[in-house]
Amino acid sequence: MNRRYRKTIIAGNWKMNMTATEGKALIEAIKPSIGKVKWCDVVVCVPAVDIPMAVRSTKDVRITVGAENVHYEDHGAFTGEISARMLKDAGVKYVIIGHSERRQYFGETDTTVNKKVKAVLEAGLHPIVCVGESLEQREMGITKDLISMQVRAAISEVPADKIRRMVFAYEPIWAIGTGKTATAEQANEVCEHIRTIIRKEFGARTARAVTIQYGGSMNAKNAAELLAQPDVDGGLIGGASLKPDDFIAIVNAANQE
Ligand code: PGA
Repeated sequence: MNRRYRKTIIAGNWKMNMTATEGKALIEAIKPSIGKVKWCDVVVCVPAVDIPMAVRSTKDVRITVGAENVHYEDHGAFTGEISARMLKDAGVKYVIIGHSERRQYFGETDTTVNKKVKAVLEAGLHPIVCVGESLEQREMGITKDLISMQVRAAISEVPADKIRRMVFAYEPIWAIGTGKTATAEQANEVCEHIRTIIRKEFGARTARAVTIQYGGSMNAKNAAELLAQPDVDGGLIGGASLKPDDFIAIVNAANQE
């Protein structure tokens, strides 16, 4: 973390796990502890049908609501899809884009990620762009090349003044939902690499203002060590965001002055 230059953001990614009723109970459980945090921003990214509940339930506390996906068109004949304009109107502030599960199961590509990033920024929201390598790619030694490709594609044609509104999440696929976490050094190395790419494209000031999270089995036990790394500015939390005590512990690890 480096709070002098950028925000620390802990974001829960509920995935397809909570009905609105269950989600409301979860938010009520974390609210008393998390609603008062000062040194980091807390986001809950929730299934689309939970958004109205989440926005209502977090009205009086410092918890922000995010979506887990978006369509890149503004409106039109795209049955089943939701645009950035709709998310904004519903009270959403952040949108996860390019999660590896969407890349793997729903045909998300670097091209659609880029279109979604532009649409989300255009709507005035913050994209959380996920990048990360598979175990095979890591073992082949191509992690950094792959991350460079994913990041460059995501920011293609994005105006320089909008880059600071972006959040990146380094999520090694082999660490997602597996209980295997990248070591703090591995996490920092790739987060630093992402910042270097942004520095090359947009200069040092912009690069140091961008929040870069780590995601992949971050939990109550390993959060402090990961967050102590200079280029790890928070976490995108799946499994542990569904357990109130674990999520609170991770937020507390980030909420250091
Ligand atoms: P995990 O998920 O914390 O359950 O590994 C992280 C993510 O997929 O965003």
